[in-house]
Amino acid sequence: MREEAIEREIEAVLGLTKRRERDSELYKITNEVFDRTTKETIAYLHRKGKIEELYGTISTGKEANVFAGVDSAGNKIVVKIYRTYTTEFRRIWEYLAADPRIGYLPKDMRRLTFVWTRREFKNLQRAIKYAVRVPDPIIFRNNVLVMEFIGDEVPAPRLKDVERMLEKRDFEELYDFTIGVIERLWRRGDMVHGDLSEYNILLHDGPVVIDWSQATVKRNRMSVELLKRDLKNVITYFGRKGVDVDDLNEKLRELLER
Ligand SMILES: Nc1ncnc2c1ncn2[C@@H]1O[C@H](COP(=O)(O)OP(=O)(O)O)[C@@H](O)[C@H]1O
Ligand SMILES: [Mg+2]
Repeated sequence: MREEAIEREIEAVLGLTKRRERDSELYKITNEVFDRTTKETIAYLHRKGKIEELYGTISTGKEANVFAGVDSAGNKIVVKIYRTYTTEFRRIWEYLAADPRIGYLPKDMRRLTFVWTRREFKNLQRAIKYAVRVPDPIIFRNNVLVMEFIGDEVPAPRLKDVERMLEKRDFEELYDFTIGVIERLWRRGDMVHGDLSEYNILLHDGPVVIDWSQATVKRNRMSVELLKRDLKNVITYFGRKGVDVDDLNEKLRELLER
């Protein structure tokens, strides 16, 4: 695509053709964080009607920026954009190298994030099959993942954000839910989330599990380690909230038995 054509599409995505406020945070991120491929990818998704407009930043993480937006039909969406340069290269490479589903591994960060993004999309699709509530994956291209917006006017809060407002009974229910997710994924889905915590559970008419970038299959040589990590994080967190939690090693043994 020609440079000017990309810029025009990006301006439309940012609502600049309507508002012309060029100092917005979003505008800054787009220009300072996104490289040409990322802009071209956003422009492509705009032309396809998958991203009509991005209107706000939800989160700036270690490796990705997450935005709220709408598609051309007016549906709210969340757009997760992996940065094509990051200090996380080594970790991402190691996680992907251990995943038996991944064949060829690119040597450069840019194309490695494409593989990473595709894997997160596939993980979301796979998790849904095993009755785990997650944001519906809509489309991915290169380092950009578009998914269902969880929330109403504003994005749903994370468990961590609302923990002060919860009672013991709520924590007990959420604990059972979370352990249930780990068990269902492992037993029925041959899968493990790998980063399950109070930061990756949104509350919106019940819990919704997000952030599937680290998730992998049982056949992965790291899967037991990841399973143990998830169990440990969950048991420790809910134990501190007063829940009568399972014993970590017993639960792990139980899951590994069959
Ligand atoms: N589908 C979604 N709907 C609403 N908010 C979301 C959605 N996906 C992510 N978020 C918000 O963006 C934050 C970062 O997303 P996440 O996938 O966890 O990325 P990271 O790898 O940076 O932690 C989450 O903590 C959550 O607040
Ligand atoms: Mg997260």
